[in-house]
Formats: sequence, structure tokens, C-alpha cells
Amino acid sequence: MSNKPPAPAPVASEHTALQARNVSFGWEDTPLHWLPGDPFATHTINVLHLLLPAGERWFVHVYKQVLPYVRDERLREDVIGFIGQEAMHAAAHDEVLPHLKRLGLDPTPYTAQVDWLFEKLLGDRTLPPGRARVWWLKERVALIAAIEHYTAFLGDWVLNAEELDRRGADPMMLDLLRWHGAEEVEHRSVAFDLFQHVDGSYRRRVRTWATAFAALVFLWQRGARFFMENDPTLADGRASVGQFVRAGRQGVLPSTPAMLKSIPTYLSRRYHPSQEGSTEQAAAYLATSPGANGGVRR
Ligand SMILES: [Fe+2]
Ligand SMILES: [Fe+2]
Repeated sequence: MSNKPPAPAPVASEHTALQARNVSFGWEDTPLHWLPGDPFATHTINVLHLLLPAGERWFVHVYKQVLPYVRDERLREDVIGFIGQEAMHAAAHDEVLPHLKRLGLDPTPYTAQVDWLFEKLLGDRTLPPGRARVWWLKERVALIAAIEHYTAFLGDWVLNAEELDRRGADPMMLDLLRWHGAEEVEHRSVAFDLFQHVDGSYRRRVRTWATAFAALVFLWQRGARFFMENDPTLADGRASVGQFVRAGRQGVLPSTPAMLKSIPTYLSRRYHPSQEGSTEQAAAYLATSPGANGGVRR
């Protein structure tokens, strides 16, 4: 059997020209527990602000190196649009961090480790030009495709997480998450298409998925514990798997069954990201997102 499965054709109507949107958010009035009365769900989602600035800048760094290998004009335009959107996402999440610090929750000890991970461990290695360098580039392109499977999953989740509205989540934070989530849904096929274009090996897809999934679970639970333990308003802040499962059942975090189901989805040889999520729903949100349309008014 061939190692490279025939890539399922994307859902044609789902393709859209990608553009980076200028956004504007103001954090002065956002409370520490922006999901009222639920520090655990708040901080579990806050881990995004710890991981995404360094992670998405790393995407941009890697993709700029891949561009010379892209021989398909439409994919090339998609990758350029993707780079613009991810750079904007990184900057927008970065702006939340000084606000958390002002509220007594200094994220620097954790972000310093995340920066090291993306810049050193996953950065450019001193490799001779040729096969080794191309191998490392393909490996990182495949890792990004696996991570983007989860950013699209989370984007789709947050666009539909009505429980956050019902519980009075801070509108500014909700808009940041939904603007970002909508763009993740909008560009959800780019990383996978790029991986298919430059390599597409099924073995590499599986291997890098396992690495990305293990790393995400490790970093996420560590980030949630970091925030809970350092939250100045909590006497004995803890994060546990039980809390995560419960929050998922309540609809304030993604559900554990949905997360487990996303694994065979990505590993199916018939998988294409356009089969999941709705470009239409993402576009509808982006058309009305306060942050992407001149800034939130409270
Ligand atoms: Fe993003
Ligand atoms: Fe993305």
C-alpha cells in the first residue's frame, strides 16, 4: 500500500480568499475571571494566550521558509493569507498578557518556557543544506497541519459555545476568541493542503499528530495548573482532569468525547479539513465581530 494516501478533494464551495483583518480590543474592563464564577474554565481557555503568540509566530517563521517549495498558485496565495492571519492572532493574544499581569497573574515564567520550545527546540537547526534540512522542514509542516486540526476544532467549538453567552462571559474576550476561531475555521484547510503538497506521507501525518497531540495535552494541563496555582484570588487553586470533563459536559469547554472523536477523524485516510466546520458560519461571525469591525463598544 502506498504511504501517501490519495488526498480527498476539498469541498469546493468551502474555498475562500484569505485576508488578515485588523482588529482592536481593549482589556481594561475585562475581569480576571471573565467567565463569571468559573476560574477553571476561564484559565483553561486562557492557556491560549500563553501558547498562541509563540506558536503562531513559529507557524509564520516556518511557512516563510516553505513558500519557495509551493508550485501551486492558489495554494501559494492561501499560505500568504494564512501567514497574515496567524501573525495578527499572535499579536492579539499577546496583548492580553500585560492585562493578566496587572490583575496579579504574571504569565512570564510560563511564556519563557513556551518561547524556548518554539524558538529553540522547534526552531531552525544547524543542518547542512539538502535532505536533512528539507526533512526538518517537512516535519514541521506536518506538525503545523496537526496543530491546525485542533485550532479549527476549537474555533468551531467556540463559535457554537452558547453556554459561554448564557453564563455572561466578558464580551471582549468572547469576541477575541470567536474572531480568532472564525479565522481558524476559515483557513482550516491551508495547513493540511500545504502538507499534502510538499509531502503528504501518511506515516508522517500519524507520527506528527502523536507528537502534536501529546505536546498540546502536556502544555495545556500545565498551563491551566500554572494559572490556577498563581491566581491571586484563589486560596488553593487546582486543575484536574475531573474538572475538565465536568466543564465539557456543561458546555463551557470542549467535551471530552468530541475531543476523542477528533483523533480518528484526523487519522482517517479520507480526511480533509473542509469536511468539518462551516465557512459560512465563520464568515457570518467575521462580518459582525465588533473587534474586526472597528472595535468593541461596551
Ligand atoms: Fe490562529
Ligand atoms: Fe490557524
